[in-house]
Amino acid sequence: MHNDNLDLIKKTLFIDKCSLFNLVIRNMPIGLFALDNKKKIIEFNSAAEKITGYTKEEVLGRQCSEVLNSNLCEIACPLQDPSHPRPSPMEQEATIQTKHQQEVPVTFSTTFLRDEEGQIYSVIRTFRDVSEIRRLEEHRKILISMFAHDLKAPIAIAGGFVIRLLKGKAGPLTPKQYEYLTIIDDKIRQLDSYIRSFLDILKMESGQILLSIEPCSMTKLIYEIIEGFRMEAAEKKIYLKIELPDFLSLVFGDKEQLQRVISNLLDNAIKYSPLGAKVVIRANETSENVVCQVQNSGPGIKPKDLPHIFDPFFRGSESKVKRTGSGLGLAIVKSIVEAHGGKVWVDSNPEGKTVFTFTIPKYIKAP
Ligand SMILES: Nc1ncnc2c1ncn2[C@@H]1O[C@H](COP(=O)(O)OP(=O)(O)O)[C@@H](O)[C@H]1O
Ligand SMILES: [Mg+2]
Repeated sequence: MHNDNLDLIKKTLFIDKCSLFNLVIRNMPIGLFALDNKKKIIEFNSAAEKITGYTKEEVLGRQCSEVLNSNLCEIACPLQDPSHPRPSPMEQEATIQTKHQQEVPVTFSTTFLRDEEGQIYSVIRTFRDVSEIRRLEEHRKILISMFAHDLKAPIAIAGGFVIRLLKGKAGPLTPKQYEYLTIIDDKIRQLDSYIRSFLDILKMESGQILLSIEPCSMTKLIYEIIEGFRMEAAEKKIYLKIELPDFLSLVFGDKEQLQRVISNLLDNAIKYSPLGAKVVIRANETSENVVCQVQNSGPGIKPKDLPHIFDPFFRGSESKVKRTGSGLGLAIVKSIVEAHGGKVWVDSNPEGKTVFTFTIPKYIKAP
C-alpha cells in the first residue's frame, strides 16, 4: 500500500470509524453498491464506477436495473419478492451492460439487511468483472481441445499398424506376440474412446454438437438399453429392475445421446454395486419434464467426492484402485442432459443407496 494511503488511514483512524469505513468502501478493488428497499442506489464505490462507466453522481437515486441492465434484473432480482427466503450472501453470475453499451460478465454477491420483522430494508451487492477469467478459460479450453484433437491422428495410425501386425501382414506371429499385440490393440481403442468422449464434452459445452432433436419414447429407450446390460448384470448376479408407469409422455431429445446418458448411468450402477445387488431404473413425469432415475445399493459416494463427480476425469478414490474407467462418463451425462435443457443430480448415502436423477423436457408440456 502507498505511504500516502497509510498516512491517510492513520489520520482517519483519529477522526472516526465511520470515515474509515467509507474510505475502505470507496477504495476497495471490488465493485460495491447499496440499494434501499425500493431498489434505488444509495452507495456506489469507485470500482463500481470503473466497471460500469457511470460516476457515483450519475447513479445515486436511480433504479439498480436501469443502471446495470443485467440479464438477472428480470428473472432473478433479489428484491423481486422480498418475502422469499434467500441465502445471504447470495452468489450469482450475470452479464451487465456498461454506460458505453458494452457487455461485461460479472459475479455478484448479494447481502440482505433485514429489520426485526425480517423485512429487507437494504441490499449490499459486490461484483467483479470476470471477463479476463472467462477469456483465459476459453483460451485454455481451445488449447486442450486442439491437443486432444491432435492426439487422434497418431493413435489412429498406431492402431492401424497394430491391426496389420495382428492380421499377419508383417509375417507370422508367435502366440505370445499375438497376445501382447491384442492387449496393445485393446488399449489403443480405449485411449481413442477417451479422447473422443472428451472432445464430445468440450463440443457439447460450447454448443458445437447439434442435437438431432425429435420426439422420443424414454420407455422404449430404457427397454432397448437394458437388454444390452443383462449379461454384465448376470455376471455380478445383479437384479435389474424396471419401474415405469403405464403411460409416459414423449420427450424432446436426441435418441443416440439419451442412450449414452442411460448407458453411462447403468454402467456405473452395475460397476459400483456389490455382488447380488439390485439396480433399479425408473421414470415418471412432471408437467414440464420426464424424470428418470437410476438407483443402486453399495458403498455409495463419499460426501467429499460428491461435489466433483460430474467433473471430467474425476474418479472416486476407491474407484481408482478397484475399477477401470476414465472418469468421463458422468461428465458426458451432464453435458448431454444440459444440452437438452434438463438437469442431473445425485443423492448418495455413503452406507446405502445411490440415486442419479435426470430430467428431459417433454415433447408436449401439460397446459
Ligand atoms: N452408482 C455409483 N455408485 C457409487 N459411485 C459412483 C456411481 N457412479 C459414479 N460413481 C463415482 O463417480 C466417479 C465418476 O464416475 P464416471 O464419470 O462414470 O467415471 P468412471 O466410472 O470412469 O470412474 C466414479 O469413479 C465413482 O467413484
Ligand atoms: Mg463410469
